[in-house]
Amino acid sequence: MRVYIADIAEYDGQDVTIHGWLHNRRSSGKLHFLIVRDGTGFIQAVMSKAAVGDEIFTRADHLGQETSLSVTGTVRADTRAKGGYEIDATSFEVHGESHDYPITPKEHGVDYLLDRRHLWIRTERQTAILRVRHEVISAVRDFFNNRGFILCDTPIFTPAACEGTTTLFPVQYFEDTTAYLTQSGQLYNEANAMALGKVYCFGPTFRAEKSKTRRHLTEFWMVEPEVAYAGLNDIIELAEGLITSVVARVLDKRKAELQLLERDTAMLERVTAPFPRLTYDEATKMLRDKGQPFEHGTDLGGTDETVLSEQFDRPFCVTHYPGSVKAFYMKPDPQQPDKALCVDVLAPEGYGEIIGGGQRLDDLDLLLKRIKEHDLPQDAFEWYLDLRRYGTVPHGGFGMGIERCVSWICKLEHVRETIPYPRMLYRLYP
Ligand code: 4AD
Ligand code: MG
Repeated sequence: MRVYIADIAEYDGQDVTIHGWLHNRRSSGKLHFLIVRDGTGFIQAVMSKAAVGDEIFTRADHLGQETSLSVTGTVRADTRAKGGYEIDATSFEVHGESHDYPITPKEHGVDYLLDRRHLWIRTERQTAILRVRHEVISAVRDFFNNRGFILCDTPIFTPAACEGTTTLFPVQYFEDTTAYLTQSGQLYNEANAMALGKVYCFGPTFRAEKSKTRRHLTEFWMVEPEVAYAGLNDIIELAEGLITSVVARVLDKRKAELQLLERDTAMLERVTAPFPRLTYDEATKMLRDKGQPFEHGTDLGGTDETVLSEQFDRPFCVTHYPGSVKAFYMKPDPQQPDKALCVDVLAPEGYGEIIGGGQRLDDLDLLLKRIKEHDLPQDAFEWYLDLRRYGTVPHGGFGMGIERCVSWICKLEHVRETIPYPRMLYRLYP
């Protein structure tokens, strides 16, 4: 009977076949210990010469790491075994040999591993991270679907910038047009929210970021909700709800993965709403008190975020940045027009921004003025201006980067491990 390792507990005492790959092999004179993985887990198959006979035992002598094989045997509960079970092998069949597998249990440098990312993802640690990523994505979808949000896809080829013109990737669009890979689905999301009330888009986004930091990819996945008739406070509460529910789901379903990653889950248990809130002005004061040189009125840099986020034991919100450091579509605070009705949610433990969003500028004249100030081509935004011409309403939303979220939840050093094939300044292969 063919079974998956993840389900092995249901087959105690039974004869089963596992289809997988050889992760590791140790042999003594009379025993082979074969660690087999099948994508759902790892299990040790014990093959004794006495049980299988000389011929089969000798054939197992030279199996290399990552040989694809099927192992048949009896499932046996064993409290010393990692997953609680072992298999007493009675036979095996090789499908594809593997010699000199490039990734061995010894330490490899990260560039070496990234060049072999297509193989690196087979390791226990990488599969654990990718499972957490899957859980995060699945929890995100459930969160919005269960709250009446409509998934409404936004285009990847776009005619204009959303998040500033310096990080656009141009694409030749037939003979005489330049298109840009989307930086965010937000602008289309706003149109969709005027049609459907509450929407979200979820897809890959692109930024020609020349920054070589642990937080930046050039291609990343972002989920973006957008809500009609919503103000800054509604958006903050939505962000809190999303993060708490994603973290709770991973804690519930991916304990084993977090444990393998040696993640201190006590830090994640603390993630409950409401999150601490501070304004940009309060944040800058906090930075100064910590001795961080910071020029008031500028954007928070990577190190500023790190310093701030080391002060908190749960995610926190920074609101009311100066309008001048934020995108053209931000609504100014009527009480202090030089500040924007915006929010960044920063993850604790040094991780920094995982969510950015806020209330949108819903006034036609002011939006036109902003487009001019930002030197953006008005033509390309005529459709977006229509949303202010035909029944404008207060509205808002945010974007959450999946990789940054996974990186924090797993407490990784770098976002590159959170996506199967990371794209970065110097990385386009494999
Ligand atoms: O703060 P950002 O630029 O906001 C927007 O794009 C808005 N239009 C979203 C919206 O309101 N609908 O990006 C949002 C999030 C960041 O908080 C971060 O998590 C992630 O996207 N992000 C990146 N993740 C990885 N690599 C990069 N280069 C990223 N840039 C942004
Ligand atoms: Mg941002």
